[in-house]
Amino acid sequence: MSQHDTPADDTDFSRVLDARLSRRSLLKGSLAMAAASYVGAGSLLLSPAGDAQAAMRKLKLNFTAVPKGLDDAVRVPRGYTATVLMATGDPIAPDIPDYANDGSDDAASFSRRAGDHHDGMQYFGLDRRNQWDRNAAARGLLCVNHEAITAAFLHPTGQTIVDGKRVSEDEVMKEMLAHGVSVVEVVRDGRRWKVQKDSRFNRRITTFTDMEISGPAARSPLLVTKYSQTGTRTRGTLANCANGHTPWGTYLTCEENWAGFFRRSSSDDAKRSPKELAAFKRYGVGGKGKELWATVQPDTADNRFGRWDAGVRGTSADGSDDYRHAANTYGWVVEIDPFDPDSTPKKRTALGRFAHEGAWPGPVVAGQPLVWYMGCDARGEYIYKYVSKAVWNAADAGRGMAAGDKYLNDGRLYVARFNADGSGDWVELQFGANGIVRENPAYAFANQADVLIHARLAADAAGATKMDRPEWGAVNPRNGEVYMTLTYNPNRDIEQVDAANPRSYTDARAGKQGKGNVNGHIIRWAEEGGLASATRFQWDVFLFAARESAERDNINLSALTADNDFSSPDGLWFAQSGLLWIETDDNAYADTSNCMLLAAIPGKVGDGASRDIVNRSGDTEKRVTTPVGTPATESTLRRFLVGPVDCEITGLAESPDGRALFVNIQHPGETTTGKDFDIARPATYQSHWPAGGMARPRSATIVITRDDGGPVGADIA
Ligand code: FEO
Ligand code: CA
Ligand code: CA
Ligand code: CA
Repeated sequence: MSQHDTPADDTDFSRVLDARLSRRSLLKGSLAMAAASYVGAGSLLLSPAGDAQAAMRKLKLNFTAVPKGLDDAVRVPRGYTATVLMATGDPIAPDIPDYANDGSDDAASFSRRAGDHHDGMQYFGLDRRNQWDRNAAARGLLCVNHEAITAAFLHPTGQTIVDGKRVSEDEVMKEMLAHGVSVVEVVRDGRRWKVQKDSRFNRRITTFTDMEISGPAARSPLLVTKYSQTGTRTRGTLANCANGHTPWGTYLTCEENWAGFFRRSSSDDAKRSPKELAAFKRYGVGGKGKELWATVQPDTADNRFGRWDAGVRGTSADGSDDYRHAANTYGWVVEIDPFDPDSTPKKRTALGRFAHEGAWPGPVVAGQPLVWYMGCDARGEYIYKYVSKAVWNAADAGRGMAAGDKYLNDGRLYVARFNADGSGDWVELQFGANGIVRENPAYAFANQADVLIHARLAADAAGATKMDRPEWGAVNPRNGEVYMTLTYNPNRDIEQVDAANPRSYTDARAGKQGKGNVNGHIIRWAEEGGLASATRFQWDVFLFAARESAERDNINLSALTADNDFSSPDGLWFAQSGLLWIETDDNAYADTSNCMLLAAIPGKVGDGASRDIVNRSGDTEKRVTTPVGTPATESTLRRFLVGPVDCEITGLAESPDGRALFVNIQHPGETTTGKDFDIARPATYQSHWPAGGMARPRSATIVITRDDGGPVGADIA
């Protein structure tokens, strides 16, 4: 019997429970120790872990549920106000004119304007001396990712493409500058927040920003390009999805869907090694290149456009005269020091190369290694963990990129295996171990740099668990437990369900049928002994997303109701209070509601029961037993916000006093570009948010405050 075929056996289950209970008593002692030394933006422990249960009970949702809806507006609870802080194209320097939002804005000005498709973000408090202050709640630096673009709205009449080629250099320049990251100073004036346009910290990081490649893969022959013949630098960051941060006060931006931007055809297959071809296939490098940036002719002397062509164009043997290896310089976690606008960002290769959603820090404990949790967002991909070799020394707080060199360049990379009995293993991605060897049939690994550059292939060899699209992770500041969204997976057919990805079903959205894990779920785990660096863990499923009307035995297993049902969890984020925010990026429930934000008061791993889930497809039936958290109730999970048409709700940050919540509304009106769309007829745009009327829609960071100035989402009694 495979491990995916666990019978519903009471004996087996009580053994699992026993193991958990004994583990839990172990947990208590070490967490009390951890509690004393927790530091770091967004990971402040409010109460000693021994009191975690009691403190959790004191958290009380302080709003009335927002109903589902399809309006082109942001809806928040009564007593709350949401205002736009920074929308696509907004100037971040005093000499840049306001955004015209009709496509006429100067392309080059985007190096001093907010980019498009706001995603992950982080708030760093600023004190009077312009130093990092974790408690500064009225002034801070906000780092915001700009993951992608809705090109139709950036140009006067959309992208100009002739014979499959981009013909306007200006348009392509604007697009390349609209990706990346914004660092902006934000200040509170009364209850209003604004971007301080003349701040010396304001900075755009784009696909043009010079970056250093650091860590074990730097200098690998696989990273040699015409831009850096030593394989130590690259130009730009791209597809900046979610994020993370460090306890020394730097920002981590994560490169997710970068692979599609590179142009590469099979016409040079004969010039590529079998390993290269295997890697291109595994990572999805191939095709014309999203946005067709490589097609602009003639190219510039510095290969602004040609660098997106991953074909063998030069005559060198090592790739030092072209961009055949350019795709290998993307797919990393990138560290940025927001406090030093002149600093060079660094791609941290020790954390592996894949479709990085984000990098979420584990508990920060003096004398212990630092840990970041990461997901690879694609169907059937993996969950990873990085554990630093150096142990945390609080004197490194505020040391910027030098601290990054210490903690992020040398460590162990692991991938998760979720076992059917509720236990889990972190399997190390180390050259020479766990099947990651020269003799591996799918890919002959050469060394550790090869393993890190091809972490997906290494994880395949190590036998990791294929998950239902890992999106965001979040670490509970009260007990160190880790939560991760698995957004959905139409490829999970009933033959492939396993304990950690246990649902495969059919769900009818108006005019569309969804199959597989249609609505997604949120998994969570507790590390053995409460140590983030442990190699074993216990897990359960915190919540299963579903429409409220879905049957409760096998689909709506978390007993969701009209006030808290949701689909496709994506963003996930813990407030310092211990309140968990859940954001959706959904298509399956779009007949009923736009995307949303929910607030949850989490329990802990093992607080629910084991469930026997029956999946059915035609005459076939497949049973799986899965540990499931206690079902949601009206007091533990509630819808807080519903966004405008066709948006994704993503990115979260709070002011350190918990009284301002920053949220990103990404790509309202995204599907506008469907067959009925006509840029000349604004009535055909799906959304006009935020300006309303007939305006082009824009992505934006919004700020949510309570009208009485109290904490957002939950009160602590
Ligand atoms: Fe960029 Fe996985 O969302
Ligand atoms: Ca996401
Ligand atoms: Ca998503
Ligand atoms: Ca999106």
